[in-house]
Parts: sequence; structure tokens; C-alpha cells
Amino acid sequence: MLRTGMGEGNTPLIPSTRIGPELGLHNLWFKLENTNPSGSYKDRFVTAELARPGNEGIRGCLATSSGNTGSSLAACCARYQLPCTIVVNHQVPEGKLIQMKAHGANVIRVEGFAESPATTSAVFDTLGRLSTGRHLTLVVSAYRYCPVGMAGVESLGRELAAASDGPPSHVFVPVGGGGLYCAVTRGLASTPARVHAVQPHGCSTVAAAFKRGDGEIRPVESTTRISGLAVPFDIDASRALKLLCQNGGQAFEVSDDEIFKAQRALLQLEGIFAEPAGATALAGLATAAARRLVSRDEKVVCLVTGSGFKDPGSLATAAARHPDQLIPEACLERVILEQLGEGSI
Ligand SMILES: Cc1ncc(COP(=O)(O)O)c(C=O)c1O
Repeated sequence: MLRTGMGEGNTPLIPSTRIGPELGLHNLWFKLENTNPSGSYKDRFVTAELARPGNEGIRGCLATSSGNTGSSLAACCARYQLPCTIVVNHQVPEGKLIQMKAHGANVIRVEGFAESPATTSAVFDTLGRLSTGRHLTLVVSAYRYCPVGMAGVESLGRELAAASDGPPSHVFVPVGGGGLYCAVTRGLASTPARVHAVQPHGCSTVAAAFKRGDGEIRPVESTTRISGLAVPFDIDASRALKLLCQNGGQAFEVSDDEIFKAQRALLQLEGIFAEPAGATALAGLATAAARRLVSRDEKVVCLVTGSGFKDPGSLATAAARHPDQLIPEACLERVILEQLGEGSI
């Protein structure tokens, strides 16, 4: 079967309407990777990986995922009539879990996967062993395992490089395992863009090493609640750190609360529907702006890497501040007038 992709890439790059001015930035843009068909940039990876030479005759896929690779793979496998089995962490958010299952994937939640280094490497060993000799392909969104698929993500950086008003001066990228950072930096290699890495405090591999300056990725005990960014050991982190140092970008650590705040800002100030990982770049930019590391007229891009529907729990917190009302019809006019500030006191 011809593997034609699923309409991924060429995502919108839109100017900020309110957050930029609030941060004192006049040239802030958002790259809407949440508008990819399965709701995250992972579609660029999965479609490139399944179309790669050597994968023509496969009978199915085995994968590990924090949720978004799995959602994308489940969709792609439905399209290409391939069975897939996806191993996820037991804390995967509801939206991603439902999405994978709704596309017909076999999902296995393994306790301790992506938390305990021993369990995680045992999972990789098992999947690697089972895929060998069975015409199954192992799908993991990292250069370490799937370099051809990750090269597909480099198109994201190339799209930023090719913008009609020129490439950005700064790009902010959320970092989990580090593969996305590597791909974006490679895609922007022909430009002077500085590519900054943003990680949650609770799982800081690249940013902590950058701060120490010893070039060594140390495993951490992850405490972050940000799905997609809890990768507590080196998958592509060494590669990302090396590229970060060559590129001249900075690394930022932000708290989970700062990320949730950035998610609410995207929702309520820009109308952008992002999951927490997808708002992490903006949380990093807020820190950079407060430290005056970006100047007023420089072109800045924040990647919005995943859609809000992935993580309904985080949306519920934002929505709770705006409760709806159940009323009899007779009260409708009065309630609307009150909302318009025209109600009687
Ligand atoms: C929405 C989202 N943003 C960012 C990332 C981080 O990508 P990487 O693990 O390649 O650093 C992920 C990874 O799953 C993700 O799902």
C-alpha cells in the first residue's frame, strides 16, 4: 500500500494578539502543531517512519509512547491496515488513551514504565526482541531508535526557516526526551535562529546539565505532571545538549504551575487549544522575557506541540473558573444582561 501520510505538516504560524504585548514583545508568533491530524507534531514523525525504506513489508508495529506518538501511530496504522501494540505509562492522560483505543490500537499500560530506569529498559529490551524476525517494526520517537522518522520532524524547522518575513531570531521548544529539540534545530541549521530548550523543573535532564556545564546527562526521579515531558534519562538528551551548546540557545526550567498558567494564557488570551506540554515553550519564553533575554522587535516563535483535547484534566481546571449555569427560560434575558454588565443591582 502506498503510504501517503495523513495531511500532516505545513501547520499555521500565527501572530500573537495579546500575550506578546503583555510580555513587551512585538513580534511573537505561535507555530500550531496542535493542528496536525492527530493533534500533535508526532504525525510528522510517524508518517515518515512508516514510509521509510525497510518498512514496506511489515506486518505491524510495536511502540512505546507517553501518548502522542501512540495516538498518531494508532491513526496511521488504522489508515494503513496495520495492527499496533503501544506500551504506555500508567499515568497517560485520558484524552491520549481514548484516542489510541478509538483508532483500534492495542494499548498496554506498564507500571513504572518511563519512571523506573530498570523497568523502562526491560520494556525496550522486550519490544526490541519481539520485533526482531517477526516483520514488526519498533516505533519510538527518538533519533536513538528511529532516525528516519525523526528526520521527518525536521520539516517543522524548515517551515520556520522558510517564512516569508524571514526566519525567527528565537524559537522556544519543549523538551522531554530531546528528539524534538534536535529535529527543530537541524531544520533551522541554515539560519541564525537561536533555539531554546524548555523543561519542567520536575524532569530536568538537558536544562540541569546545561546549567552545571559538565556536558553530562544524569538520570532524575521525575516528579513532573506534564505528560510528554517526563523522560527521566538519556534517550536523545545528550544529542539535544550538544546541539543546544553549538546553537547558542539557552535552557530554561519552569515549574508545572508556570506551564499550567501558560496553558490558560493560550486558551484565554490567544484562543489556542493546547495541552500542557504544548504550552511549555511559552512558559519558557515568559521566563526569558522577564530576564530580558529577548528584545522587543526580535521575531520569536513558540511551538504549540499538542492539542488541548489530549489532557481533559488540565482543561477542567481552566474551565472551572468559568462555570456554566442551568436556568429556566424566564430568567434568560436577565442573566444575559447581567453578563453584559447591564443587570439591575
Ligand atoms: C506535545 C509534546 N510536546 C513535546 C514533546 C517532547 O518531545 P521530545 O520527547 O522529543 O523532547 C512531546 C513528547 O512526547 C509531546 O508529546
